[in-house]
Amino acid sequence: MDKLVIEGGVKLKGEVSVSGAKNSVLPILAATLLTDEKCEISGTPNLHDTITMLKILRALGKNTEFKNSTVRISHNKHTNFVADYKLVSTMRASFCVLGPLIAKLKKARVSLPGGCVIGIRPVDLHIKGIKSLGVDIDIQSGYVIAKTKQLRGSHIYLGGIYGSSVLATDNVMMAATLAKGKTIIESAACEPEVEDLAEFLIKMGAKIKGHGTPIIEIEGVKELHGAAHTIIPDRIEAGTFLIAALITGGDITIKGALYKHLGAVIDKLRQAGAYIINSDHSIRVRRKTRLKPVNVTTLPYPGFPTDMQAQILSLMGITPGISVITEKIYPDRFMHVAELNRMGAHIQREGPHAIVEGARRLSGAPVMASDLRASASLVLAGLVASGRTDVSRIYHLDRGYENLEIKLQKLGARIRRGKE
Ligand code: UD1
Repeated sequence: MDKLVIEGGVKLKGEVSVSGAKNSVLPILAATLLTDEKCEISGTPNLHDTITMLKILRALGKNTEFKNSTVRISHNKHTNFVADYKLVSTMRASFCVLGPLIAKLKKARVSLPGGCVIGIRPVDLHIKGIKSLGVDIDIQSGYVIAKTKQLRGSHIYLGGIYGSSVLATDNVMMAATLAKGKTIIESAACEPEVEDLAEFLIKMGAKIKGHGTPIIEIEGVKELHGAAHTIIPDRIEAGTFLIAALITGGDITIKGALYKHLGAVIDKLRQAGAYIINSDHSIRVRRKTRLKPVNVTTLPYPGFPTDMQAQILSLMGITPGISVITEKIYPDRFMHVAELNRMGAHIQREGPHAIVEGARRLSGAPVMASDLRASASLVLAGLVASGRTDVSRIYHLDRGYENLEIKLQKLGARIRRGKE
């Protein structure tokens, strides 16, 4: 297994480019199941999760070719409607093949994704939404077995106890594109990645309005055709580099980062002492003042993203004063706290809150990554810690960051990949 070895203490400087958004490309690849025609997806990040989704598409009857950040997908004669446990269990986003499969083939058998280290992650909203489109659903032996004679448009309230759901909105929106009549999704997720998926579906011939707002309207069409699309830049990767500049006291220009997708993150970072300049297709960041503590609560978009919680926790870990980070999407998403404390941070967890007493300095230590964003927070801490940090189990990081250590090396970081 690979690990990352970091010698901390270098101020990161220079330019870095963000890759395409992981959370956009996965449902967009799934959406290609809605047509037998060819699709071309550019700006595709070369991530472990992308490769998993391509494997799933091949198992479901697609030919795929992935070269120079572009995926070309065409139909193969052997259509299959079963998404197997072995693949779905490794990546939750693969559950969003359910919507396209039921819409296109009128039947689907998709493994339940199961829980993961950031907490229990149910799929009740996905099931509720798909069912209300006139689909019969049974759960048998860990699989969702779905069948229908004809999908029918419906008015669906999709809010849950933690607010809207990104992948449930994606799943229902994709299924509704081929339903008979109009579907309204109320309390839809507004994340830019949901909007990006809707834009791709529109290019395929879908009739969608209101994407990017909590009410999405979909007028079903008979069929969808092939389309070409470029994935939006990854706002979480961009946010991670913003924090990399601040935590090391450096000066980074992030090319491709979209300011409009990072409002809540930039607002908090400015309060924390960042000087941020937005120019055409890039964001430059450095410290304006000494770092100041900020309180952060994660919320659905346009609120502060849960996928940036671990990274800002690392930043607050070295910021003198007290800050409180509250997790409202996944109240148990704090596996990184114990590891950060092993590096000298003073973070106390109380239910969905992490109370941080900023330490003057962190010291390098062997630490273990537990999930994707937790891994990023440990790398950030390692970049500023004195001495050597070994981050093990970085397969989590490879799921969602494209060439992270190479990008950090170009900014001056002393980081390398090694074997555990
Ligand atoms: C997506 C993102 C993930 C991000 C998350 C929240 C992808 C591939 N992944 O995951 O990076 O952390 O949004 O922004 O896009 N919930 C239910 N019932 C459901 C579905 C979800 O109660 O049927 C709950 C979840 O447990 C969580 C909240 O709703 O508390 C939001 O989860 P959701 O938006 O569905 O997350 P994902 O779409 O799985």
